[in-house]
Amino acid sequence: MDLVEAVEKRRSIHEYEQRLVDEEVLRNIFLTAAWAPTHRMKEPWNIHLYQEHGREHYAEAVLDSYERQGFFEGYDEEKSRQLKKGIGDFLLQIPHHALIYMPRDEDERKFEEDYAAVCAYIQNVQLLAWEAGVGILWTTSPYLHDPAFAEAVGLDPAVYKLVSVLQMGYPKRIPRAKQRTDIMDKMKVIRT
Ligand SMILES: Cc1cc2nc3c(=O)[nH]c(=O)nc-3n(C[C@H](O)[C@H](O)[C@H](O)COP(=O)(O)O)c2cc1C
Repeated sequence: MDLVEAVEKRRSIHEYEQRLVDEEVLRNIFLTAAWAPTHRMKEPWNIHLYQEHGREHYAEAVLDSYERQGFFEGYDEEKSRQLKKGIGDFLLQIPHHALIYMPRDEDERKFEEDYAAVCAYIQNVQLLAWEAGVGILWTTSPYLHDPAFAEAVGLDPAVYKLVSVLQMGYPKRIPRAKQRTDIMDKMKVIRT
């Protein structure tokens, strides 16, 4: 697959086959993605990869966070139990969850540089995965901003910023492309 094809054909995947991606394949994706640009060579990306039974602890932390944020308020006990079960089951049928996080630099500009580098890393992961036949959904859910969630997954929220959770697996269904705006509508060429 050439680069243009990978960039254009990659889609965000919402439905996955019920089988694990080989560990070697995943390791190569995460390894090669580290050729992302990184100012001051900080390589700020870090990963918790949840799979198999490891997903249960992650799913529990997500549900606890939703609970804290009042997601289940206003429902009777049975409805709220059903909602929790629905979310839990949904998370557990995704083969891999890669939580991407980075150390928080106190300097705002350096923090931005690090965040940008991590996003470049994530896009490398997405493209390399696509080339390997692996689908991803880049997610930024509210629990990533919940300090108690960070603690529940063993990360000090004062030290680390949680950037994203990448849902990963072999695609069951590839959604149709959402068209992009012609870049000429957004670009000005200034010559003089
Ligand atoms: C920073 C970021 C956060 C995203 N968060 C979510 C998310 O929480 N849930 C989701 O369904 N998609 C999320 N997406 C994926 C976008 O919705 C998706 O890229 C967009 O709909 C275009 O679809 P495509 O990637 O298939 O071209 C996120 C993308 C980015 C870059």
